[in-house]
Amino acid sequence: MTIEALKDAEGLLKKIGNTPLVKLESLSNESVDFYAKLESHNPFGSVKDRAAFWMIKRAEEEGLIKRGHSVIIEPTSGNTGIALAGIAKLLGYKVEIVIPEKASEETKKIIELLGATLYQTSDDLCPKVGAGTDQSIALAKSIASARPDKYFSPNQYANEANFMGHYSGTGPEIWKQTGGKITHFFSGVGTGGTITGIGAYLKEKNRDVKIIAVQPQQNHLIQGLRNFEESAKPELFLKREDVVDDWMTITNEEAFSSVKEIFQNERILASPSSAAVYCAMKKYGISEGCVVGIFADDGKKFKSLYGQQGVFTPEEFDRCLHDAKHLSPSALY
Ligand SMILES: Cc1ncc(COP(=O)(O)O)c(C=O)c1O
Repeated sequence: MTIEALKDAEGLLKKIGNTPLVKLESLSNESVDFYAKLESHNPFGSVKDRAAFWMIKRAEEEGLIKRGHSVIIEPTSGNTGIALAGIAKLLGYKVEIVIPEKASEETKKIIELLGATLYQTSDDLCPKVGAGTDQSIALAKSIASARPDKYFSPNQYANEANFMGHYSGTGPEIWKQTGGKITHFFSGVGTGGTITGIGAYLKEKNRDVKIIAVQPQQNHLIQGLRNFEESAKPELFLKREDVVDDWMTITNEEAFSSVKEIFQNERILASPSSAAVYCAMKKYGISEGCVVGIFADDGKKFKSLYGQQGVFTPEEFDRCLHDAKHLSPSALY
């Protein structure tokens, strides 16, 4: 996708959802199938396109925002910022994003390229909801509360539309794509919209489907995910926390070495959080059934991080980009 493509607002917004489910051949055998749900195939490159679109549409329906007048402001560690910057702009809103400076340089550049104003704070990668130190959330709140007539913060951490995007979209897609055969579902948790929305839907269809939440280690480098020993659980997650049957904790090292492994075995250029999900799926010890994991975005915007972490040199990264299968169509990054 190019900035030119942004002119086709209607066409682009229709492309949110219906992402591919791809078999992970190297993990699968005759008694168990493993699949990745490739959310990078959303128009702005991540699972967060769904939440952003639903939150903006719901706010419009409730008369909370007006095209050409309102400014959307949101604290985010990356993907929600990209999704809101793209989608809200297409719909005629100005967007301001508050982001921790530790987010990848590529992420910040994309948000600016999409025309949003960027504020950086010295927070940890994931804002610690509920803890007093959360500068991103505090800054977004203080800007918004000074001009309530103009500013609107979707507040993805509590917004029910974030849950609904997955309950009525991603969950049914996965059920259909697996022909109702899914036995285990793995997802990382940021706000909890993805895991509770999909988890609640799947449990309604078959209460024996196991829902496994993946969290990174404390003090992690996994953009988009949270560790709940160091961060309070968001309100949205707490509402339906009981859909989660089990937790897996993945270290930075495990996630980064999985990025390499996934590329070698599947030719998929995975993001750190997708690699954490893959690692959890592999380690959980499932010998029978149908296992699906959310690959929330892809590795395209992590060239600098992968260089720093010794995953791929810049030259190796470029070769991977060239040889990768299932790469998202988005050319924003
Ligand atoms: C990069 C990334 N962003 C977002 C999410 C999900 O976020 P949320 O819990 O806010 O729906 C995930 C979870 O898989 C993720 O890996």
